Amino acid sequence: MSDVYSEFLAKYPSYTTTVKLDDLRAADYTRLDHKGQVYLDYTGAGIYAESQVNKHRQLLLENVYGNPHSSNPSSIAATQLVESARASVLAYFNAAPEEYDLIFTANASGALKLVGESYPFGPGGQYLLTFDNHNSVNGIREFAHAKGARVTYIPVALPDMRVVETQLEEAWEQADPKMRNLFAYPAQSNFSAVQHPLEWIERAHARGWDVLLDAAAFAPSNRLDLAVWKPDFVPLSFYKMFGYPSGLGALLARRQALTKLQRPWFAGGTITVASVQGDKYYLADGHTAFEDGTLDYLNIPAVEIGLKHIEAIGIELIHERVRCLTGWLLENLIPMQHSSGVPLVRLYGPTTTEKRGGALSMNFFNTRGQAIDHRAIEDEANKSNISLRTGCFCNPGAGELALGISRLELAVCFSQPLHEQRLSIDDFRLCIDGKSSGAVRVSVGLVTNFDDVQAFLGFARGLLG
Ligand SMILES: Cc1ncc(COP(=O)(O)O)c(C=O)c1O
Repeated sequence: MSDVYSEFLAKYPSYTTTVKLDDLRAADYTRLDHKGQVYLDYTGAGIYAESQVNKHRQLLLENVYGNPHSSNPSSIAATQLVESARASVLAYFNAAPEEYDLIFTANASGALKLVGESYPFGPGGQYLLTFDNHNSVNGIREFAHAKGARVTYIPVALPDMRVVETQLEEAWEQADPKMRNLFAYPAQSNFSAVQHPLEWIERAHARGWDVLLDAAAFAPSNRLDLAVWKPDFVPLSFYKMFGYPSGLGALLARRQALTKLQRPWFAGGTITVASVQGDKYYLADGHTAFEDGTLDYLNIPAVEIGLKHIEAIGIELIHERVRCLTGWLLENLIPMQHSSGVPLVRLYGPTTTEKRGGALSMNFFNTRGQAIDHRAIEDEANKSNISLRTGCFCNPGAGELALGISRLELAVCFSQPLHEQRLSIDDFRLCIDGKSSGAVRVSVGLVTNFDDVQAFLGFARGLLG
């Protein structure tokens, strides 16, 4: 055992309880080490086990599945698999089927769009959201604007990038209880990895808000227990939880919240009756009304396989491993300094593992304290086979605050005649005048090991002047 690994274990003794994940990686994720890959983009996507793919392949090769919702044998077989997967997702999140329903979507963004386009926003109503939401949550504001609802953003405060709760309390108090009001926030920010309090859900409910809890970045390494926490809408993507299949996500929704939604159209599969001559349609109940057309019935069974995979490991175990490796990364990255005394990195978000997840967003600085372009960092990391992510991670609110890009600068940029309709990312960079327009993010997950984080720390050390 190397000295540094011993030092790590001395600081994080609970890591030894997670060694089962090293065995699993050696047996079921062999390609990671065979290919010499240092995968550090778990907030981007999880990595699948080979056994997940094999089980799914076997299922497809040994059975005959047809389009669901008919009464022929191949259709019944497909329907059974879809319904079994639906029940297993609800069970995984401890969501009582009498209370919660589950709608399969293409991804978390698809789930968010379903809420956005159907939520009964209107004049006097509000859409309240934190600055650090993903763009697919930000995008709901366009539906709110179009229907005349007020849109309010709650900022997050540097350096931790948490919300000042008094501001949130004040905003909650502004709800007119006679109107429909939606409050949206990420259980874990995909920029700063801040884990906002789940207690907000009931506090917002008590003041007349429906609550959308974006669990896309949270669910892969944290337990979300819907018997304890009762958000109205929970979007997520399965590939972020267990890597496979991509192209499937879900909206977990309280049944009573679903009845408030007003779908703007109907489609194949969503109605009980639709008439051409009568110009009338009747939406089906519950999830059926929200699943447009034919479901991805051949891939949905892989969701159940993925969930069983996670359950066999235990989400608490995954959580603990992520916590230990995140702590080690934080403790070792933050003190790195050039010989000039200039810190190598500026981290955007909490500096301890308290109420934060396993993603670190940062920028690197040279010996003179000038920011190194995040694209150059990615190029360098690529040479070492390290998969990290750069940019603003579809989280412009957090990015603007972290990078010090002001409302005024943005207004000046967006109002230039040439930028009325189109703005490329390069134009945007010029506009904000040399300021950094993005950051570097590394994120750990299910089968990250000590060597992976050491590889990144070694890479960072190589940037020291
Ligand atoms: C917090 C959060 N919400 C929503 C999304 C959107 O997920 P998808 O791209 O799978 O629709 C992401 C993706 O990174 C995310 O991190």
